[in-house]
Amino acid sequence: MAIDAKTRLYGVFGDPVTHSLSPALHNAAFGATGLNAVYLAFGLKDAKGAVDAVRHLHMGGASVTIPHKTDVMAHLDEVDETARAIGAVNTIVNRSGKLIGFNSDVDGAMRALEQKGEIAGRKVVMIGAGGAARAIGYGIRQKGGTLLIANRSADKGESLAKDLGASFCPLTGLDLGDVDILINATSVGMTPHVDDVPVPLDSLTSRTLVMDIVYNPLETALLSAARAAGCETVDGTAMFVFQAVAQFEMWTGLEAPVDLMRRTVLEAL
Ligand code: ATR
Repeated sequence: MAIDAKTRLYGVFGDPVTHSLSPALHNAAFGATGLNAVYLAFGLKDAKGAVDAVRHLHMGGASVTIPHKTDVMAHLDEVDETARAIGAVNTIVNRSGKLIGFNSDVDGAMRALEQKGEIAGRKVVMIGAGGAARAIGYGIRQKGGTLLIANRSADKGESLAKDLGASFCPLTGLDLGDVDILINATSVGMTPHVDDVPVPLDSLTSRTLVMDIVYNPLETALLSAARAAGCETVDGTAMFVFQAVAQFEMWTGLEAPVDLMRRTVLEAL
């Protein structure tokens, strides 16, 4: 699709954004669906500037990333309930001039897990208590999963557990024997510390579905150990791809080309 006077603009706002995979991902999806739209990366220092840009340039929508996910909220016309509960917006939708904030990380994480099975009634152990953990944990609770949070620092872990209606346990002494879903929502295992695993895995059995949010490397030590134990796994690209799928659907009302989006991310890594 050639760029012309009717081309709709989308983009990601954050700082830094030069390594973002989102432009490749969304432009591939726009191209495949024949939409006259383009997606660019904008490194901006202030959140208000990002929202003003979306408004004044009549952008179709935008992704919001670090460090603006919380600060944009004050400048939007409306923030949906999930994004408000988490305290973070990663998606802006322009509905006829009204700018609405959403959080597609929750939906993205749930879709990534649901590819492999149901969440309701499952016993989930999640390691981590940062922003990613908050989005994933919120989704798990909404879906009716039982959630146990483990984290290096007890105060952050306990505080997130309280917010989400979950329980907390220290990293050591976790028995994974009866766990249905194990999620690493920390950066443990990321390059260059590729041999690190977030918790001792001696008690892991093949009944557990193991998800990692780390995608650098794609085959983390956690996922490698999980596969060796016979577990099903969800790699770190899944949540990223599905949060973009959810964005694409909110922006366009069309079904997203999921396989193409996944292939595009794998090729860009
Ligand atoms: P994000 O917003 O991407 O989730 P974050 O808010 O910095 O990132 O959260 C990082 C998470 O990874 C935290 O749960 C952190 O544990 P602490 O709360 O104890 O800081 C966890 N984390 C990061 N590096 C870690 C490490 N080397 N060992 C254990 N946990 C780690």
